[in-house]
Amino acid sequence: MMIKSAEFVCSNTKMDKLPPPLLPEYAFIGRSNVGKSSLINAITQRKGLAKTSQTPGKTQLINHFLINKDWYLVDLPGYGYAKTSRDNRAEWGKFIKKYLFSRENLQCVFVLIDSRLKPQKIDLDFCYMLGDKGIPFILIFTKADKQSHLKSDQNIVLFHKALAQWFEEIPAHYLTSAENRLGCDDVLTLINDVNLK
Ligand code: GTP
Ligand code: MG
Repeated sequence: MMIKSAEFVCSNTKMDKLPPPLLPEYAFIGRSNVGKSSLINAITQRKGLAKTSQTPGKTQLINHFLINKDWYLVDLPGYGYAKTSRDNRAEWGKFIKKYLFSRENLQCVFVLIDSRLKPQKIDLDFCYMLGDKGIPFILIFTKADKQSHLKSDQNIVLFHKALAQWFEEIPAHYLTSAENRLGCDDVLTLINDVNLK
């Protein structure tokens, strides 16, 4: 799919302030600093579209981007950010869960996982929660440029093994890099296919 336009629409925490749910929507979620905002920029080939930072906790709101005037990409705040206060984390849980559980035009959630790490409980728990609620999700392993593909593949296999304890069917996955756009066109192809359904 060609990206003809990519525009920031709005940032919110309130469900009733989100854009009307009239177009297909795809949300990026994962631990703070895993590379959600960077991957949105790489996929859309718009460097400053989503705000990125070396410091975890950069994205704090639900950010909607309108792509090709036809569908939304959504950048969400990360989970597991240790410096956030307990109250903030509880708040995060509330509004993100409300969004994930009730957004009617949400086609699929992309769960981003750092490909350099062995399976982390926080990511597995998050996948389990999505599965439990029947929310479709795809695994996106990030930062592939930071290590050999062999090492990434080993971590992907371990992650699948861990998920296999809970899921009969393991969700599809992509290995990506925001640095060299590895996997970005494959993610766009998937979105295109879902949009056409
Ligand atoms: P929060 O908004 O805080 O939850 O973080 P995020 O998941 O949006 O991460 P962000 O995109 O801001 O990236 C975090 C850091 O990782 C930044 O310094 C990015 O430059 C770096 N980064 C993200 N993706 C990649 C990648 O694929 N390769 C490399 N080498 N660095 C990356
Ligand atoms: Mg971010």
